[in-house]
Amino acid sequence: MPRVYFDHNATTPTDPAVAEAVIHALQEDFGNPSSVHHFGQRAKAILDEARSAVAELIGAEPAEVVFTSGGTEADNLAIRGAAEALEPTGRRHLIASSIEHEAVLNTVKALARRGWSVTLLPVGSTGIVSPDALDAAITRETALVSVMHANNEIGTIQPIAELAAIAHRHGALMHTDAVQSVAKVPVDVRALGIDLLSMSAHKFYGPKGAGALWIKRGTRLVSAMTGGKHERNRRGGTENVPGIAGLGVAARLARQKLATEGTRVAALRDRLERAVLSAVPGTAVNGALTPRVPNTANISFDGVEAESLLIALDLEGFAVSTGSACSSGTLEPSHVLRAMGLPSHRTQNSIRFSLGAGNTEAQVDALVAKLPSVVDKLRLLVRK
Ligand SMILES: Cc1ncc(COP(=O)(O)O)c(C=O)c1O
Repeated sequence: MPRVYFDHNATTPTDPAVAEAVIHALQEDFGNPSSVHHFGQRAKAILDEARSAVAELIGAEPAEVVFTSGGTEADNLAIRGAAEALEPTGRRHLIASSIEHEAVLNTVKALARRGWSVTLLPVGSTGIVSPDALDAAITRETALVSVMHANNEIGTIQPIAELAAIAHRHGALMHTDAVQSVAKVPVDVRALGIDLLSMSAHKFYGPKGAGALWIKRGTRLVSAMTGGKHERNRRGGTENVPGIAGLGVAARLARQKLATEGTRVAALRDRLERAVLSAVPGTAVNGALTPRVPNTANISFDGVEAESLLIALDLEGFAVSTGSACSSGTLEPSHVLRAMGLPSHRTQNSIRFSLGAGNTEAQVDALVAKLPSVVDKLRLLVRK
């Protein structure tokens, strides 16, 4: 059975050019980048190239890029590092949105257990944080505001530049988790006016276990990973050279393809949404249609348990998701859809289709051809 992958927000297939760079770094350029000899310097050259590639993708300087083990570590370093650096100033308040990924939510919750006060900003049914909500929550004690650029479940893009301006007006730092926006839409750290940005290679055809935190020059962070003087003292530990080599190639490819892939994937996503809404009664798109990353559609199916639909579609050869991969496998309703105030019949009945490089119109049409009968069958079962 041919299998179709519509779960690119969970992870993406590795681009062949990325895999080649990873293998080359594993087999040929195996030196320790901290070593002074030839082998070390070859490995260091890989880090330098990848740092430039990542910096160019987000409009930054290479020296501002710190390699991490992925998005989760970048979020932890940003939030814990800023909190620890700012603690002596008496600022003990953190703000995040209520639709953040667990990497941010559970980090601010951990700091709340250590005495930090935390405010989670509400979102309306659009799934977009309003600058007024931040204005109302921010105080002179706020150390850091962390709001994701694009949401991983519904794809909505947050007004980061406006939020950053408010944070700065109150003397707070601004972090954005851009794991789901980098390489899908143009991301420019200067235009966003932020201080910290997280990204992860495996969301854009790079390897798992490699990512980066962009730290604006002059921003004080306390390293969360103590060790050697790697990454300008900001993250101890011998760098993951093969993973970073892959991240660099993925970043270069993303920059080349950004505009054309964005347009192509948006057309596919819109085709899928239109067809599903017209072929399957009792369906609705969750969240605002714009601004949204081009590849994500989150659709609720009345009278169908999302997990059952996911399994039924998997049996037909289509890989989709019920939302955040980290919370699938549990029957917990999505915290994102709940925060948007959707009724329980929609928070439990929603499927995320996230498209990417390998997807075609024929694959979308094949899904839409199967979907009505699969949904009908599940609805009948529920009624019995
Ligand atoms: C918005 C967001 N932030 C952070 C992460 C975590 O990234 P990683 O898997 O690289 O740790 C993810 C992954 O699903 C994500 O979607």
